[in-house]
Amino acid sequence: MYYISVEKKEAQRIIELLKKNKEFDNSRKVMHVEGKVYVPVLEKIKGAFEFKGEKAKNKPKSIEIALQGILNAEEMKELTASFDLIGDIAIIEVSERLIEKEGEIAEAIASVHKNVRVVAKKEGPMEGLYRVRKLKVIWGEKRTETEHKENGARMKLDVAKVYFSPRLSFERRRILDLVKDGENVIVLFAGVGPFALVIAKKRKKCKVVAVELNPIAVKYMNENVILNKLKNIKVIEGDAGEVAKTYENFADRVLMPLPKDADRFLESAFYACKADGIIHFYTFADAEKPFEDAIKKVLAQLNKENVEFVGKRIVRPFSPALVQVVLDIKVKKNRLE
Ligand SMILES: C[S@@+](CC[C@H](N)C(=O)[O-])C[C@H]1O[C@@H](n2cnc3c(N)ncnc32)[C@H](O)[C@@H]1O
Repeated sequence: MYYISVEKKEAQRIIELLKKNKEFDNSRKVMHVEGKVYVPVLEKIKGAFEFKGEKAKNKPKSIEIALQGILNAEEMKELTASFDLIGDIAIIEVSERLIEKEGEIAEAIASVHKNVRVVAKKEGPMEGLYRVRKLKVIWGEKRTETEHKENGARMKLDVAKVYFSPRLSFERRRILDLVKDGENVIVLFAGVGPFALVIAKKRKKCKVVAVELNPIAVKYMNENVILNKLKNIKVIEGDAGEVAKTYENFADRVLMPLPKDADRFLESAFYACKADGIIHFYTFADAEKPFEDAIKKVLAQLNKENVEFVGKRIVRPFSPALVQVVLDIKVKKNRLE
């Protein structure tokens, strides 16, 4: 069990060299201990030494370290860009060129994230009415249900049957920080409840109405209401447009997290919102001119005298050409004709 110790910045070059000379030991992991990189070698070559504490310390600190010598820099970038952790399930994208290495990649993820029990790979984009993506378990327990914690709320969900993205946690926190206790909040397109549960949990005097079409997401949202012991949230299974129309002037705030086509529901959201209430409108927009694009979508549905754009932010990049944007829109009803 021999290793050579190298500086971090030299590690990749030396690993390549050892591989070329058939001296690199593929069966063991490259280790990162107290600022040094320890590279496993097959024989006691010059500078090699026996590492006594290998077993105890053989826990790489990051995926980059665990996969040193297995993925090149570009492949590593591709992998880490796609990596999501939902509860104890790691979700990755494995492109054609990485398929051969998917077993090693899954092992490496599990060795870094000790709480991971399942590694699943994406088998397509988010699609359909319910915005769900096909997944395939490639490592660990054969299941796709888990429990995830975000901003203090517990959420049970099935990553293969409902939409959920941990990448929106910052945006959900931003919205929570805007909500004042006592507000009436309608969350359209509520999924398993990440916006609604946290608002109901942290703002106990708020009345929260959460609307979702996917019956499986609704089932989980109902379970999550119980899991978080909430009394101030009403879960409704149904179409956002139809349900919003039954809440005339109810909401201080309406959330519309369906970036694919929330604009179709703006009129209903406006109807459900009080005068001077806020609509948080999410949409995909041209990365070159995101806000211009998003504002145009709003003004195609609502009269410009009835809206004031009070906030805007790029939530996340979506594709090379598109970004996800949120507009915070103040509703002006007193100016209706
Ligand atoms: C992008 S996901 C957002 C889910 C959740 N808010 C979150 O952040 O994880 C959009 C959700 O809207 C739901 N949905 C799509 N069309 C709907 C409609 N017309 N009425 C209610 N929900 C709808 C989908 O099933 C999906 O769960």
